[in-house]
Amino acid sequence: MTYKSVYDASIADPKAFWLDAAKALDWAHFPTAAIEGDDDAWFADGTLNLCYNAVDRHVVAGRGDDTALIYESPVTGTQQTYSFAELQSEVARTAGMLAQLGASKSDRVIIYMPMIPQAVFAMLACARIGAVHSVVFGGFSASELAKRIDDCEPVLLLTASCGIEGQKLIPYKPIVDDAIAIAKVAPPHIVLWQRDQCEAELNGDHDTNWRLALETAEPAPCIDVPADHPLYILYTSGTTGKPKGVVRETGGYGVALAWSMPNIYGIKTGETYWAASDIGWVVGHSYIVYGPLINGNATILFEGKPVSTPDAGVFWDIAARHKVTVLFTAPTAIRAIRAADPDANFLAKNRPSSLRALFLAGERADPDTVEWIGAQLDRPVIDHWWQTELGWPALATCLGLDYAPAATGSAGYPVPGFAFRVVDAGGQECGAGETGNLIIAKPLPPGSFRTLWQNQAGFDANFAMFDGAYATGDAGVMDHDGSYRVMGRTDDIINVAGHRLSTGQIEEVVASCQSVVECAVIGGSDELKGEVPVVFYVAACDSSTEPQDEITHAVRNQISPIASPRDVIALRALPKTRSGKILRNLLRAIVNGTGFVMPQTIEDPTVVVHAQEQFAAR
Ligand code: COA
Ligand code: AMP
Repeated sequence: MTYKSVYDASIADPKAFWLDAAKALDWAHFPTAAIEGDDDAWFADGTLNLCYNAVDRHVVAGRGDDTALIYESPVTGTQQTYSFAELQSEVARTAGMLAQLGASKSDRVIIYMPMIPQAVFAMLACARIGAVHSVVFGGFSASELAKRIDDCEPVLLLTASCGIEGQKLIPYKPIVDDAIAIAKVAPPHIVLWQRDQCEAELNGDHDTNWRLALETAEPAPCIDVPADHPLYILYTSGTTGKPKGVVRETGGYGVALAWSMPNIYGIKTGETYWAASDIGWVVGHSYIVYGPLINGNATILFEGKPVSTPDAGVFWDIAARHKVTVLFTAPTAIRAIRAADPDANFLAKNRPSSLRALFLAGERADPDTVEWIGAQLDRPVIDHWWQTELGWPALATCLGLDYAPAATGSAGYPVPGFAFRVVDAGGQECGAGETGNLIIAKPLPPGSFRTLWQNQAGFDANFAMFDGAYATGDAGVMDHDGSYRVMGRTDDIINVAGHRLSTGQIEEVVASCQSVVECAVIGGSDELKGEVPVVFYVAACDSSTEPQDEITHAVRNQISPIASPRDVIALRALPKTRSGKILRNLLRAIVNGTGFVMPQTIEDPTVVVHAQEQFAAR
């Protein structure tokens, strides 16, 4: 089938298109309709269980011995494989443990864990009993974890004794204890998986030893839930310090992922798929856990870095050993590999001949990197674009539908179901080749968010700007062939090594430092990480501490080390308009060397000259 005919069918009659796609799942009750109004749930009267679809049904179909989950952990020297039958047994017992500890349908369960199989078991176990998981990236600080605890009020918090970051061991229990001390509501139980690398001390009745609890747990069956039952809440950066809890509904998500595996990624049941991401991000949810397993693929859980664990050949080694057919990673990872192995010697020694394509997403894929890796791999390198809110790719070149690659620098064509437009600030259509706001008409296809957890107003705000269409927050341009280039954010979100961060949130933390009077945080271009935070601040006269250290420490400890500022620059004043608005665009131009015209409205031009000097002298 051609991309064009499939895309046109999805837009002309989305109800028929998606009801047909829904047949890829096993339903307890098959939905009688796809969607009523644009804002309604997909497959509203259908009932199903997504854990059953990801695990049990493959066992029932006689594929119990086939590989489901491959755990590759160069940081611990562990390689472990689970068949679908073994995964079923682990997940059912974990689900029994959750139920025994009091979790039931609709209860929230926070999963703050490193990339170990128990984290995957826990996600699927929640889905099995209808509990709503909320995975929190293991690199987030205690205060970020506390915000999520307060927002979703979990009945259980699942964690492990430590994470392993390259050569560093990161004990999680002190972070969890700090988070609980900060949070207004404490989860009744902490359930902790002790890892061999580090033993955590457990406190009395409040903490449960995961291994011991499993010993007495009975396997729990899958329970059927309505299609609009929340499967998970995944928090992502908004424009304030409060993260947005994207709620993902079960049925639509399952259908979208099931459709995406053969059609976007071109992968067949039984093949091995690898998304080298983290379960703390949407890519991990959709393409380490649910998507590949629903499609009956073996999926790889990788605990390591693209370089240094042990070297820049680790991706090729794992891909070759497990006959990976589709690899998905962030451009930063490829840039890191290139920097460490510019002649691709590791790849030459260990070529994964099974590889059909490399997909990139999470941040802008610079053409130089795409061309370099394409030449080295001699395989299609496909950039594709999506967001936590949407749950699965919205712009892509669909490898399963008459693959015709978009030009380098393009994020691809609209994926069936997504009706994109580019408009100016007033909502007027931009012509081909003109940059504007990237928006998507309703109904958003299955899998996309329909609310934010306890924040309907925050959700509605995404549709308020452009006459009911979804404002992606990205700027884009449609090319004459109908493909789209994504030009960056229109708000204060930045993308650091494929991680989405809010400069507004970083500013809140910096402004709370004792030695800071005011500040501005902007995204500076970075060769490796795409963007990095750059802090400009004005120091208090009586500052007793070293502001640079205080600021860096605060950002690392109150948000995450992944938000560490690259530069922290003191100014005597921030450049402002006469009405007091901070001129962040001007600071951004100074940092990124893009040139600027001194605005007429500037309060004091000498402040800008000072900022230029300070940045140059940093
Ligand atoms: N737990 C605790 N700390 C973490 C963490 C985690 N899960 N993940 C990252 N960190 C820490 C790192 O240890 C580092 O700390 P440091 O400043 O004390 O050294 C800091 O956060 C920054 O980490 P990172 O952004 O990973 O930078 P790095 O220099 O350690 O590694 C790369 C550079 C390019 C190898 C790495 O950024 C990378 O693998 N990028 C690809 C990311 C990716 O796949 N994103 C996909 C999202 S879809
Ligand atoms: P997240 O919700 O964390 O997945 O981040 C989504 C944001 O990452 C998008 O809104 C984009 O700004 C950016 N992004 C994701 N994929 C791409 C891509 N292929 N090209 C450019 N930006 C991307």
